Amino acid sequence: MIEEKSMEHLQLRIKNIRTETSSSKSYFIEEVNGKKIEYKGGQFFTLLVNLHGKEVRRSYSISSAPGVDTQIYFTIKRIENGELSRYLLDHLHIDDVITSLPPTGRFTIDVPESELAVFVSAGSGITPVFSLIKHLLYQFSDTNVLLIYQNHNEEESIFREELLLLQKKFSGRFLIKEIFSHPIDHTRPSQRLNNNLLERILLQTVHTNSVRFYLCGPEAFMRMALFTLKVMGYSQDTIRRENFFATAPPPPFMTDTNPHNVTINYHNKKYHIKVAYPHNILEVALKHNIHLPYSCRGGRCSSCTSICTTGRVRMTINDVLTPKDLENGLILTCVSYPETDVELTFDATDVNRVIDNNVNL
Ligand SMILES: Cc1cc2nc3c(=O)[nH]c(=O)nc-3n(C[C@H](O)[C@H](O)[C@H](O)COP(=O)(O)OP(=O)(O)OC[C@H]3O[C@@H](n4cnc5c(N)ncnc54)[C@H](O)[C@@H]3O)c2cc1C
Ligand code: FES
Repeated sequence: MIEEKSMEHLQLRIKNIRTETSSSKSYFIEEVNGKKIEYKGGQFFTLLVNLHGKEVRRSYSISSAPGVDTQIYFTIKRIENGELSRYLLDHLHIDDVITSLPPTGRFTIDVPESELAVFVSAGSGITPVFSLIKHLLYQFSDTNVLLIYQNHNEEESIFREELLLLQKKFSGRFLIKEIFSHPIDHTRPSQRLNNNLLERILLQTVHTNSVRFYLCGPEAFMRMALFTLKVMGYSQDTIRRENFFATAPPPPFMTDTNPHNVTINYHNKKYHIKVAYPHNILEVALKHNIHLPYSCRGGRCSSCTSICTTGRVRMTINDVLTPKDLENGLILTCVSYPETDVELTFDATDVNRVIDNNVNL
């Protein structure tokens, strides 16, 4: 019962590498067979790398924007003591081929739903944001964009030059508020984005109720931004988040420890497994060599999304599915525990159909 692994995998050739900052590089890629890679701005690749005999998966957001950039690229920032970021930055060369899952992710904007899109970002959190900003500026002339961008200093600010050029090109529609904790230019204030500063910037710059927020940065930074927006009275459904950093949450409290039947429809095959607390559906499926898609295993990236067509599951965490997604039966299998017998479908067309019917903020 082993799923044909390569069915869903891309083989990406590194066409070019561009150094962005002292700790980050962009990798320009193409599919080895020349096939066009379909993606939306804000989505990510999940790279599968064999490191010391074991497969390591990490996601990297696509910084290019379809319809704007001719080449697709993602950007990796070095994490001190990080297992894969350090390895890739030191060992990935032009013409190397790397395995990846197809682009996925829900941090996307099909059609803007507001007059103003506010991005609050820090460090490598700019990677999907850069793609979305280009998408909005070039393809939706009625939408204004505000970027609040925290970095250590000017040189560590990924895509800074390109962003400043965009601000010039789209002046009147695109405003950047740069914040540096240790600016090189000493005439600039040394600041960290905190609740007070974020609130002050928003009060000064946001003059419409038609606004949506997109947050991407370190976990504590996102918590601060989310809290500030809520205190300012913005509702949850105006705020979207992309969380790069996930630790698997513990199983939820459940009294029912009986095994439940789980039927999985994947790549036109039906699999039957039994899942009992405290194990989640993804974990048990992988143990049975059903190679479902996944990346973070922490309920934050959405790679493992399926539709629950029958029965009910309990999810421990959900940072990516909207209330509408949940209404449509979407679940994150990596944090899902069956409460009844359930049937799931991963059929890409089914999931995409549900996603396409959804309102994207
Ligand atoms: C949806 C998604 C999109 C992502 N897009 C990008 C991207 O475009 N560019 C990019 O560089 N990374 C991105 N990431 C993060 C990336 O997948 C890895 O987590 C990151 O490269 C660290 O992996 P590692 O193996 O080097 O570190 P690990 O060995 O996994 O971790 C080492 C240590 O660093 C901590 N850590 C891990 N990630 C971070 C972080 N981001 N900030 C602070 N501490 C961290 C861990 O808790 C651990 O203590 C994304 C993650 C997700 C889920
Ligand atoms: S694997 Fe990331 S949300 Fe499930």
